[in-house]
Amino acid sequence: NTPKPLAGKRAIVTSGPTREDIDPVRYISNHSSGKQGHAIAAALAQAGAEVLLVSGPVSIPDPHDVTVVNVICAVDMQQAVDRALPADIAVFVAAVADWRVDSQASEKIKKDKSGKPPALSMIENPDILAGVGNGKKRPALVVGFAAETENVVDHARAKLAKKGADWIVANDVSEENNVFGGDANTVRLISAHDDEAWPKMSKEDVAAKLVERIAQRFETVSV
Ligand code: PMT
Repeated sequence: NTPKPLAGKRAIVTSGPTREDIDPVRYISNHSSGKQGHAIAAALAQAGAEVLLVSGPVSIPDPHDVTVVNVICAVDMQQAVDRALPADIAVFVAAVADWRVDSQASEKIKKDKSGKPPALSMIENPDILAGVGNGKKRPALVVGFAAETENVVDHARAKLAKKGADWIVANDVSEENNVFGGDANTVRLISAHDDEAWPKMSKEDVAAKLVERIAQRFETVSV
């Protein structure tokens, strides 16, 4: 019988990519597999939390003992997260597309006779983490991720402040690290006053260590 330090706590986790349609057959997305986010949802459930996982399109199985809401695009992911509030813990691991096309074509875009490629006009997607981190129903603990390719700590700290997160898990997603889709991750846990570099480990181990920290944060000292 494993101890359940997060029993009675509600957690929301976002995971995977979002997919933004261009027309009925084409879309913009990224290489997130959902492995890191799903591992965190599983670890939270194992620690006794009631977990709602909002997942973009992935091809990995749903974690055990977790309620999964499947979404496609950022706007739907935001709506699913908002519906799931209130919660005690929210962990934003999804690689949400920052932009979507301004107006999706209802028919497949055809090649122009002149040979000119179509110009896509983009608009910004809602920032789901910032909406929750700075919002009225803010969970007690809000954790964001930061996928960076340079100046990892500086950029992560900027996101911590701007998005209203307590912690940012920063990972260097430069191509050679193979984080998107890979089985391992090398992260730093960054808060307003701390910055802790963790060694390279499996995404399951990153999840377990993060959940251990979350449990410590909620630990009530009994006298
Ligand atoms: O899925 P895997 O293959 O296992 O890969 C894991 C991962 C690389 C996707 C993961 O470790 C990771 O870094 N996730 C965050 C990816 C990301 O989009 O980072 P960002 O720096 O662009 O966003 C910062 C934070 O804001 C993230 O918590 C993100 O979920 C959130 N965000 C971003 C944009 C947006 N519109 N809404 C958001 O909530």
